[in-house]
Amino acid sequence: MRGEPPARHFGAFGRDKPISSVQDLIVITGKKIVGALLLVIAGSVICYSQQTALRGPVAEAEKTFQTRCSTCHAEHGEGSEVGASLNVPDLRSPFVQKSSDAQLHQIIKNGKGNMPMFGRDFSDPQIDRIIELIRSFAAPPSQQSQAGFAPQ
Ligand code: HEC
Repeated sequence: MRGEPPARHFGAFGRDKPISSVQDLIVITGKKIVGALLLVIAGSVICYSQQTALRGPVAEAEKTFQTRCSTCHAEHGEGSEVGASLNVPDLRSPFVQKSSDAQLHQIIKNGKGNMPMFGRDFSDPQIDRIIELIRSFAAPPSQQSQAGFAPQ
């Protein structure tokens, strides 16, 4: 044992190019795996924060709709009794849903007939998120209000 110094073994490995490059490769691959893991972790953190960031505005639009619009349009745009007396259209109906975002934006911002204007209360991005919410109300015709106050 003593006749064979350990240095010779190291020396043998050290001189053996293929092995040392395989070792290098393992080290590099290891670093890449760590790097990839870090990327995955960073990615999920970013996705998570984006999701919560998205949930914020949607929740905000829902809250706004409940406090500012549901008096006339009811919780999901079907129209309240007050709304019926003012002739509100069912926001879920094709009559409203076929309007472009720009048209709905203009109406919410500047009002129309008995519909009050909200341009002074909400920013343009806030109005856009309310429109997204109104789009989410759209339901198959079978589920829409049969109240009969939606315009033909
Ligand atoms: C005082 C009752 C009232 C309130 C509050 C109200 N609306 Fe209206 N809304 C109306 C009436 C009435 C109409 C129908 C206007 C018309 O066509 O003459 C209408 C129409 C609409 C339309 C359909 C426009 C169209 O012709 O396609 C949208 C969209 C709408 N309202 C969104 C909103 C939103 C969003 C809010 C809250 C920010 C809101 N409304 C609050 C009464 C109201």
